[in-house]
Amino acid sequence: MKGFSLYAQTNSRKENILAPVPPMGWMTWNYFGVDINEQTIREMADAMVASGMVKAGFNYIFIDDGWQGGRDNKNNLIPDPKKFPSGIQALADYMHAKGIKLGIYSDAAQLTCAGYTASLGFEEQDAKTFASWEIDYLKYDYCGAPQDSATAITRYTRMGKALHKSGREIMFGICEWGDRKPWYWAKNSGGQLWRTTADIRDKWRSLESPKSVTDLHRVGAGILDIVDINADLHSFAGSGGWNDPDMLMVGLYGKKGPSGYLGGTGCNDIEYQSQMSLWSIMNAPLIAANDLRNMNEPTRRILLNEEVIALNQDPLGQQAERKVKGDIWNVFVKPLSNGDYTVAVLNRSNVPQTSGIDFNELGLDGTYEIRDLWQHKNIGKGKRWKGIVQSHETKLFRLRKL
Ligand code: GLA
Repeated sequence: MKGFSLYAQTNSRKENILAPVPPMGWMTWNYFGVDINEQTIREMADAMVASGMVKAGFNYIFIDDGWQGGRDNKNNLIPDPKKFPSGIQALADYMHAKGIKLGIYSDAAQLTCAGYTASLGFEEQDAKTFASWEIDYLKYDYCGAPQDSATAITRYTRMGKALHKSGREIMFGICEWGDRKPWYWAKNSGGQLWRTTADIRDKWRSLESPKSVTDLHRVGAGILDIVDINADLHSFAGSGGWNDPDMLMVGLYGKKGPSGYLGGTGCNDIEYQSQMSLWSIMNAPLIAANDLRNMNEPTRRILLNEEVIALNQDPLGQQAERKVKGDIWNVFVKPLSNGDYTVAVLNRSNVPQTSGIDFNELGLDGTYEIRDLWQHKNIGKGKRWKGIVQSHETKLFRLRKL
């Protein structure tokens, strides 16, 4: 890797930086698994516009595993002709006309996680194919590849370089589940995102206490399990490179399929709202996974809270730091570009609790106007906040210094 750093190159051209803020969108995996096709993906795009999500910033559709139909006689990757009879380029055109970008998926081995044709040995050719289809993002998985870090870095760097040379700006999402600590090397491999954990399941937390990323593969990663890994990686995130704690479970309510494996039986709306709050302040990519064509009112309210989205998309790009890390309370602080702060108060316990937060103890001097971003109102002025936080709820405050 001597002399090669895509990150440094993109950074020196600040105006062209990919992912100056975390990307937002919708991904096929947790709702459809591999049962995808162009018709349903178009319907999702239509729903993403009609629901106001595109306007709120959700402007990517990410095709996950299951789109591939093998290679043609020149070894070019082709989509499954039954699922995508019009081809991927036509789908990209459809998206672009609506102001939506299109992401696609491959893997750094012979086969993907679900057993479809992958890109090992065809990196340059596949990157050119994606560019010719006007693809805007590649999620690059790691099933079927060797365990060691050196091979992973080599394989991701090879695809990172291939995308860089493809003639199109294609965002690169590294998906090896945090097993080889990609927060140390993903940017140098050309990545703008790196998954930090095993696949998220539609549950609040595992019954066992997972101690490591490896444990999470076994017991299934709930929202809180993922927070416990991703929160401590705050110093690695910043403009152009983000920790990716996987998709939003908001609105899935225990749907069967990938999110339902390993005990993913669903969450309640307080828990989904917590995930939206925590993912927003951790500068995670905000990637919905629910059926956008059929959203109930709480799901819309959670996904479309523009004051919460603004925290995630804040140009300062600083991931919240978890200042209090107890069994009951977690308190996060995230500085914002205009000098405001976000304070998030999470009750991890199974019963409502009364919290008393002294902002000075969090390192925030002075007196603040306090705005509750879920109630959409200013709730007072002062140096502290006291109130009840429901079980698994996250209160989200924006503080403006007076
Ligand atoms: C892996 C990834 C998931 C999804 C599937 C597809 O498990 O981590 O996000 O892409 O593969 O097969």
